Amino acid sequence: MLKAENLTKRFEGLVAVNDVTFQAGAGDILAIIGPNGAGKTTVFNLISGILPPTSGKILMHDEDITALKPYRVAHKGIARTFQTTALFDQLRVLDNMAIGYKLKTTSGFWSTIFHTRRWKADRDKCTQKVSEVLDFIELPEKIYNIVSTLSQEEQKRLAIGIALMSDPKIILLDEPTGGLIQEDTDSITVLIRKMKQAGITVIIIEHKMRMIMDLADKIVVLNYGEKIADGPPEEVSKDAAVIKAYLGGEFIA
Ligand SMILES: Nc1ncnc2c1ncn2[C@@H]1O[C@H](COP(=O)(O)OP(=O)(O)O)[C@@H](O)[C@H]1O
Ligand SMILES: [Mg+2]
Repeated sequence: MLKAENLTKRFEGLVAVNDVTFQAGAGDILAIIGPNGAGKTTVFNLISGILPPTSGKILMHDEDITALKPYRVAHKGIARTFQTTALFDQLRVLDNMAIGYKLKTTSGFWSTIFHTRRWKADRDKCTQKVSEVLDFIELPEKIYNIVSTLSQEEQKRLAIGIALMSDPKIILLDEPTGGLIQEDTDSITVLIRKMKQAGITVIIIEHKMRMIMDLADKIVVLNYGEKIADGPPEEVSKDAAVIKAYLGGEFIA
């Protein structure tokens, strides 16, 4: 489904991602783990077109999508969430989701101004999609709530919901449970499984090892920009290099 081939990203004086190759199979949950600064978020920025790689390729279904503009990547069916939630917190849940939907609408500026038939059809489709996604993320009763009144866990769900508005084939989740307590982490885990069941390929950056061991089909471990391990959880958890990189960390627990 998605392949990264020899991806390298240099910033002045720093190799954030160094010759990294991995792939995610259709419907898999692939976890990218590694210490802070390992290059995980940069990998997402490369895949989603926010940053061009210095070298290397990104392929989706064997189609080269390297360095496409972010909206083009989104049109290919890749959606993402951000490490710090990027919601409009003084707007309603509905508005945040409708903004996410704009990507797929066909009506342009004038038809929006004049409320043409096409605009109305788009609006109805959007309303339909919002309610479908809100059901999926189990937040339907919050549709008219202002985002700042939602709990942290609900805001994380909403961020995932916004990404789902574009019907992605692949979703990139950057620490979707960051800052959440265990109980809330568990409910997000359930939601991630549900995405997999719906046929979406999930690539997740996460620090919580117990969650990842439980959830991932495959784990890629980055350390100082380099891939140090790649395989199923059982294998990666026994890998000497991985244990060394995490020594004293949560990984041992
Ligand atoms: N836009 C950027 N410009 C310069 N350096 C960056 C930029 N983005 C990330 N970095 C650096 O690249 C390294 C990897 O960062 P990042 O991918 O955010 O790590 P992670 O998500 O694994 O914690 C860090 O040293 C970070 O400071
Ligand atoms: Mg990061």
